[in-house]
Amino acid sequence: MNQITFALAKGRLAKKAMEVLKGLGITCREMETETRKLLFTSDDGNYRFFLAKTSDVPTYVDYGVADIGIVGKDTILEENRSVYEVLDLGFGKCMMAVAGEPCKKELLQSGKPIRVATKYPLIAKRYFEQTQRSVEIIKLHGSVELGPIVGLSDVIVDIVESGKTLKENGLVVHEVIEPLSARCIVNSASLKVKHEEIHTLIKQMGIRLGEQK
Ligand code: PRP
Repeated sequence: MNQITFALAKGRLAKKAMEVLKGLGITCREMETETRKLLFTSDDGNYRFFLAKTSDVPTYVDYGVADIGIVGKDTILEENRSVYEVLDLGFGKCMMAVAGEPCKKELLQSGKPIRVATKYPLIAKRYFEQTQRSVEIIKLHGSVELGPIVGLSDVIVDIVESGKTLKENGLVVHEVIEPLSARCIVNSASLKVKHEEIHTLIKQMGIRLGEQK
């Protein structure tokens, strides 16, 4: 068979993805050891895996150095790469939302310009354009909830999972942009050249995830 290369988002998603693949008999013992290595080959030699920074996974897949990528829908939307999204893996569930202090509800509906802090400028820009509101977007790299608390922004666009970070910082969800979860993306050329291998694998992963529900 053609060797298949996976780009995995380092961390929790990579671990979950490897559990799903293990259920299909695809194992990689080396990845289970304490190691700083980034590139691995499966025990049977048929698959390669590399551990990438989350936001880089769509890039590796777009350029075809990875056939398949496993990454969150938030990253797929924000990176906006030319890749095929073929499967919702169902884990890593959360949502993209507009959040802020409770008193910002009126401003959001007022038609006045809104200052938005976010790690996801493209998602935020698209959303406010679609909902026909004028915004100034301020890109942050983390701890976005600080934005409204210290007065940098009116609201944030960010991931909400348990809601704990918002709650502990006195913020609430004002608008849900969309639900998110881990997805499987595929390179368009790989989908043709390695059609049989990729098609079979995606199908088996889908069945396996369905059984786990
Ligand atoms: C994410 C996200 C929120 C938080 C949401 O941040 O940006 O801040 O998790 O999770 P919760 O709803 O379960 O509280 P992350 O932990 O990745 O850190 P960061 O803010 O430094 O990017």
